[in-house]
Amino acid sequence: SCIMIINGPNLNLLGKREPEIYGTTTLAEIQDSCQKLADERGVELEFLQSNHEGAIIDWIHEARERCDAILINPGAFTHTSVAIRDALSAFNGPKVECHLSNVHTREEFRHHSYISPVVNSIIIGAGWRGYPMGLNYLIDSLADKK
Ligand code: DQA
Repeated sequence: SCIMIINGPNLNLLGKREPEIYGTTTLAEIQDSCQKLADERGVELEFLQSNHEGAIIDWIHEARERCDAILINPGAFTHTSVAIRDALSAFNGPKVECHLSNVHTREEFRHHSYISPVVNSIIIGAGWRGYPMGLNYLIDSLADKK
């Protein structure tokens, strides 16, 4: 199977960006851990990042054709994007929303997610480890369905 991991705006700056909130691990390092896990568990991975809402929506549409599950950290679009939510809603496979920081301990505007109601699982505040956690969950759910 194939799993798409989508990262939203500013996550390309991980490691350099507010490390006290997001940690010092870079996106390339997160990609490496996810790839290692995917190899061990025998699944294909597509690891993507964009600062553009439309690009993220296009990828979610593409996932309908070529992927079985999605893990997404929509960054700030979490709190603003009905369009990303609608695209995810139309994707039938298992979905995880992941945030490095615990958004509920932060500013009020981060407490609401447009995404949470259309995913199966939400992982927040686990830092970079949330990605392999979410990936394991998605691989397990795909295995359950077979
Ligand atoms: C984030 C949380 C969002 O509120 C923020 O806008 C981000 C990163 C996280 O991973 O903790 O860009 O999604």
